Amino acid sequence: ELSPIDRAKSVAAYRAAEMVEEGMRVGLGTGSTAAWLVRRLGERVRDEDLRIKGVPTSTATAQLAREVGIEVVSLDQAGWLDVTIDGADEFDGELNLIKGGGAALLQEKIVATASDQMIVIADAGKEVEALGAFPLPVEVIPFGWQTTRTLIEELLDTMDVLGTSATLRMNNEAPTVTDEGNHILDLHLQRIGNPRQLALVLNQIPGVVENGLFIDICDKVVIGHGDGRVELRD
Ligand code: A5P
Repeated sequence: ELSPIDRAKSVAAYRAAEMVEEGMRVGLGTGSTAAWLVRRLGERVRDEDLRIKGVPTSTATAQLAREVGIEVVSLDQAGWLDVTIDGADEFDGELNLIKGGGAALLQEKIVATASDQMIVIADAGKEVEALGAFPLPVEVIPFGWQTTRTLIEELLDTMDVLGTSATLRMNNEAPTVTDEGNHILDLHLQRIGNPRQLALVLNQIPGVVENGLFIDICDKVVIGHGDGRVELRD
């Protein structure tokens, strides 16, 4: 028996899996919700002889996709994608997102941006009135990361946010290392007044590779509820 949260994630993922059609090139997201999608697409490949090419957004998703029998290609082999389906940590009424809770935001943003359509799959608890309760992940180069953090905190002092602290994400005793060899700073902002502006200025700081704000990238959110209901937002 699935818990309500897993039921919500899986029904959203299953509905989105039905939107994938024969021959499509599909960006495969990262995280527990996206894993439901990848497994369901694997079933469709096996049971319906569906032929798709999958572009994973992390080494974890690449491994899962191969295990379930999806043909995996790189983004540059695929060139352009028909659709990317991924989870999110938060989404707002304009379908702007916070992503990167799973540390895969850089590849996720590149892949989603290279797609005709991005569909987010999420449980209803991810919907927010304003982004920012979930700490905003920012991927930074390891070189001089403490200096980069200081610059980010100084910037946050001038922005429309409630909190200004940034913490280095750890994995056991060591800093988290992303698939691209970088670190993650989590920005504790509580509430982001102007996500569009923040997304732009963060990326101006030397040492910042990318931030977890996805602005004008998501086209549709498939929302799963614990009782099995699914809602679409676009
Ligand atoms: C990965 O870097 C994230 O962007 C995930 O998409 C996000 O953390 C959602 O993960 P869950 O589906 O596990 O909540």
